[in-house]
Amino acid sequence: MRNHARKGLKVGVAVAGGGHLNADGSIDGLSDQQRAVIAREFSSLSPENQTKWEFLHPEQGRYNFAGGDTIFEFAAQHGQVVRGHTLFWHSQNPEWLEQGQFSEGELREILRDHILTVAGRYRGRVQQWDVANEVFHEDGTLRLEGNIWLRELGPEILADAFRWAAEADPHAYLFFNDYNVEGLNAKSDAYFELAHKLREQGVRVDGFSAQAHLSLAYPFPDTMAANFARFDKAGFHTAVTELDVRGPVPAYTVAANMSEENRVIQAEWYGRVADICSATPGCLSLTVWGLLDEQSWVPGVFPGEGDALMFEGDFAKKPAYYALRSALHAGR
Ligand code: XIL
Repeated sequence: MRNHARKGLKVGVAVAGGGHLNADGSIDGLSDQQRAVIAREFSSLSPENQTKWEFLHPEQGRYNFAGGDTIFEFAAQHGQVVRGHTLFWHSQNPEWLEQGQFSEGELREILRDHILTVAGRYRGRVQQWDVANEVFHEDGTLRLEGNIWLRELGPEILADAFRWAAEADPHAYLFFNDYNVEGLNAKSDAYFELAHKLREQGVRVDGFSAQAHLSLAYPFPDTMAANFARFDKAGFHTAVTELDVRGPVPAYTVAANMSEENRVIQAEWYGRVADICSATPGCLSLTVWGLLDEQSWVPGVFPGEGDALMFEGDFAKKPAYYALRSALHAGR
C-alpha cells in the first residue's frame, strides 16, 4: 500500500490502541504479524492514544513517554513519519487537570509546559501535529463550555497553543483537526475563517485535517473535494487523519461484518477519499483509524455499527483495501 501513493502523500494507520482496549499502549505489545503488516503497508503512524494528555501526563508535572516513545522508535526503524495527536482537546484529559482548582495563570502555565515538553521531546520527528482537536461545534461556534482551555482562558489561548507548538518544534506542520468537517459546512467554514485570522495575526497554522469517521447511514460528504481544494488554494496543507467507514452489523460484537453489498459501497468510499487526497496537491497524508476491526474504536462507540477498517481479524484484506490502493495508485 505505502508505495502506491503519489509523492508527498503518506499512507497512515493509527497504532497500539490502549484507549478503549485494555492494553498497555506500547507498539511492542502488538503481535509480530500485526507489526509486520503495519511496517509493510504504511508510511505514517498515528498514536491512537499514546500522545494524548491522559497517557502522557498522568500526574501534574509528571510525564510518561513510554508508550509514545515505542511508536516513534518503530516509525524511525521502518521509514515512517508520525502524526502527533493531540496537544489541545476537551477529551481524554487527566482527572488532575479537569478536576483541579487552578487559577488562569496556573492553567496557562500547565498548557505551555505540556506543549513545550511534549512537542519538544519529539521535535524533528513529527510530520504533523494536531495542535488543536475538535474545537468547534457543528454550528461553527467554539466549544466554549466543554473545552477546559477555551472555557477558562478564552478563545485567544488557541493562538498561544500554536505559538508554543511552533516554538517547540519548528519542523512539524501544525494542524487543526476535527470530525464532520470533510465537506463544506458551518464547521469547516469556521476553521477556514479561524485559520486565516490566525495567519493574519502572524501565528503559524499550516494545515487543516478531516478525521473522516464516515458512516454508511449518511450520504458520502459530496463537497469534500471542494472543501479540500479551498484550503489548498488558500495555502494550507490538508490531511485525512482517522478514516474509517462503518456500516450496520447484525450483532453487537466487534467481529460482526456488514453485508457484502455494503462492503462494496464501503470500498468505493475508501477510494473516493483517496482520490480527493491524491488530487489535492498539499494533502500530506491519508490515515486509517486502526488496522483490525477487532481493535477498532467503532463498535464500542456506535452500537450496531462496525466492520469499518480494511483488514479482517486474520489479516485478510477487504474490498476497501484494494479500492484504497488502486485509487492511490491512479492518483500518482
Ligand atoms: C479514540 C480512540 O480510538 C479510542 O481508543 C479512545 O478510547 C477514544 O478516542 N476523534 C479523535 C480520536 O480525535 O482521538 C478518537 O480516538 C476518535 C475520535
